[in-house]
Amino acid sequence: MEGKGLVRILTFCILVAGFSALSAQTAAEGKALFKQQCSSCHALNKKIIGPALAGVPAKYAGDEEWLYKWIRNAPGLIASGDAKAVKLYEENGKQQMSAFPSLTDAQIQGLLAYMKEGDGPAVDPKGPITTAVTDPLADPAIYYSLLGLVGVLALITLLLVVITATLVTAVRAKEQKEAFTFADVLTKTREILRNKFVITAAVCFIFVMGTAKLIAEARTIGLHQGYMPTQPIAYSHKLHAGEYQIACQYCHAGASKSKSAWIPSANVCMNCHKAIAQKEYPGDAARTAQSKAEIAKIYAAVGWDPDAFQYIAGYEEKPIEWIRIHNTPDHAYFNHAQHVVVGGIECQTCHGPIQEMEVVYQYTELGMGWCINCHRNQKVKVLGQDNSDDLTVEDMGGLNCARCHY
Ligand code: HEC
Ligand code: HEC
Ligand code: HEC
Ligand code: HEC
Ligand code: HEC
Ligand code: HEC
Repeated sequence: MEGKGLVRILTFCILVAGFSALSAQTAAEGKALFKQQCSSCHALNKKIIGPALAGVPAKYAGDEEWLYKWIRNAPGLIASGDAKAVKLYEENGKQQMSAFPSLTDAQIQGLLAYMKEGDGPAVDPKGPITTAVTDPLADPAIYYSLLGLVGVLALITLLLVVITATLVTAVRAKEQKEAFTFADVLTKTREILRNKFVITAAVCFIFVMGTAKLIAEARTIGLHQGYMPTQPIAYSHKLHAGEYQIACQYCHAGASKSKSAWIPSANVCMNCHKAIAQKEYPGDAARTAQSKAEIAKIYAAVGWDPDAFQYIAGYEEKPIEWIRIHNTPDHAYFNHAQHVVVGGIECQTCHGPIQEMEVVYQYTELGMGWCINCHRNQKVKVLGQDNSDDLTVEDMGGLNCARCHY
């Protein structure tokens, strides 16, 4: 009898775990969909073109049918003269929301779940401006879901053990043998765990997996070719360095002066963006709005009020937390000025066609082999000599370990 009670409790636990995992899933899917389809006009907690949507699930509780109709076809609902729709439309300055006729019920549920749950802990308005985590392994959520999965599997295992034990006990009772006790389960488990074959297999498995992981890690230490994180502001080199041909060193002034090239501060952006609050995309109101929202992040960093055309008094500047892309390990020394000024090497030789990149990514490998290869072949000019000697960096000691390693 006790066995049955336990079975019920365990089944209940598994169901609850399953459902909560499912609802987390729909909220996550809803978030992705929201970013794609709605975020050009809506945010959860502030008005963009449409109103803030965090309160929507509560506002329309009991009136979901209307809400679903609205999300699928707001323009149609307004045109049909629906009183609530017309009122919303008029309250929001007669801006049109797009129609989304192909959204399924499940997708709308996901969107609403995301509106309700939001992005998790609120952003500290005084804190730095950061971006969402893009490396999936750096996102703690994945470890929680793995932990959850392990928990669910453990529960299922336990459930199976209990069911088996209950059945065995029933059979034994029929055969008039003594009941199968919990102690018997432990003894059996212990026997299995002591089995040499099982132990060998487990050790082999852990060893193989561990080695594979180690090798994979070792091969990528410091190497991130192709690394392309999402930056906190959708800044485009293609637009600035490409179309508008702004010189690289206007922003990366360190490249000819120092070891580092430097990332410009928001004040450098403000040299132009005091006067440029958005890029106009004719006929695409949503894209124009997005452009405005991105530039507004520069204003939020330095405390600029574009309407009053002045800085907000006493505003504490927040750094824009650009995610670093290129990074040589600490034990290696690299100097920009030496390469750009003395070596006369173009940025693009090492960084690729940056002026064509909407989002910057690491173009070359930046590994030791890559540095050495160029040092072997690259000719250098030596001041005060003609260059008929064809001196390479190697000839000048450019392959000495100590030149690059402390
Ligand atoms: C092109 C801009 C635009 C897009 C894209 C857009 N909306 Fe809207 N939305 C609006 C506007 C504007 C309103 C205010 C009503 C009006 O003026 O028609 C609104 C109103 C709403 C409302 C009612 C809010 C309230 O306070 O009652 C909901 C809910 C809503 N939108 C959901 C969505 C969802 C979900 C998506 C994505 C699938 C979406 N919207 C995409 C512009 C947009
Ligand atoms: C208007 C300012 C501006 C100009 C002009 C500009 N950049 Fe940048 N650059 C930035 C900003 C801001 C970042 C950081 C955000 C990003 O990675 O997009 C950046 C990032 C980079 C990075 C990646 C840095 C890292 O994190 O490792 C490289 C490489 C780079 N720029 C090279 C260039 C080159 C080459 C040019 C000229 C063709 C150029 N930039 C022109 C502003 C500028
Ligand atoms: C030398 C002038 C100049 C500087 C410096 C500058 N920008 Fe721009 N930016 C522009 C121009 C010009 C446009 C496009 C305006 C247009 O086409 O209407 C623009 C557009 C933009 C846009 C909107 C692009 C889009 O398509 O949505 C963003 C975002 C932006 N800049 C961010 C930055 C950031 C961040 C910095 C500093 C790292 C910066 N800009 C520095 C001149 C500049
Ligand atoms: C010989 C190869 C080479 C050349 C040429 C070169 N870079 Fe770099 N760049 C690197 C390496 C390597 C790093 C990583 C440096 C580190 O981790 O200290 C880097 C990093 C950067 C960064 C990241 C931030 C920083 O301050 O270091 C920026 C921005 C950058 N380069 C811009 C430029 C620009 C602009 C030019 C041209 C004026 C240029 N680079 C020329 C190899 C090069
Ligand atoms: C595209 C070619 C190229 C690449 C790639 C390159 N270098 Fe160089 N490097 C040069 C040239 C050219 C010089 C010589 C400059 C001069 O005349 O002093 C140089 C000089 C140096 C020096 C000074 C050597 C000396 O003898 O004084 C160091 C240190 C150095 N590079 C480190 C690196 C590191 C670290 C990397 C890789 C992250 C790298 N370089 C990648 C071309 C390159
Ligand atoms: C031109 C510059 C340069 C020279 C010369 C150079 N290295 Fe390196 N080395 C690097 C860079 C950059 C890295 C980091 C990138 C990487 O991990 O491949 C590195 C990484 C390493 C590592 C770490 C292992 C690895 O692959 O990540 C070792 C060990 C090393 N170097 C040893 C040496 C020895 C020994 C010499 C002399 C024979 C030497 N290096 C000469 C630039 C140089």
